[in-house]
Amino acid sequence: DTIYVLNGPNLNLLGLREPEIYGSDTLDDIAGRLEDRAKELDLEIDLRQSNHEGHLVDWLHEAQARGVKAVLLNAGAFTHTSLALYDAIRSIRTPVLEVHLSNPLAREEFRHHSYVGMAAKGTISGFGALSYMLALEAAALL
Ligand code: DQA
Repeated sequence: DTIYVLNGPNLNLLGLREPEIYGSDTLDDIAGRLEDRAKELDLEIDLRQSNHEGHLVDWLHEAQARGVKAVLLNAGAFTHTSLALYDAIRSIRTPVLEVHLSNPLAREEFRHHSYVGMAAKGTISGFGALSYMLALEAAALL
């Protein structure tokens, strides 16, 4: 089985971007660790990043069409703005797990609302890169 790990805007700069908030691991570092753990769980990781909202919508549709087991989605700032992602998640049967490095509820008020969270199966946030690993453990058990 395959797990999609979809990452939204500015997450290509992980490791450089506000490391006091998001940590010093790059997305490649996280991908490597996810792949190691996925191997033990007999799963495959397909990790992608885009700064474009529509790519994330297309990949969610693709996840369903390809029959992937689950999607881990860190939609970055689109989390808080994107009705299109809300609709896309609700349009597919593939379980979508919302992931954040930081804990948006402990930050600025404009991060307190999540369109992704309103449609997702569940949310893991606040554990830095470990949030992705915890989400993978959950996805494996679905
Ligand atoms: C984030 C939280 C969002 O509020 C922010 O816009 C991001 C990263 C996180 O992983 O903590 O880009 O999704």
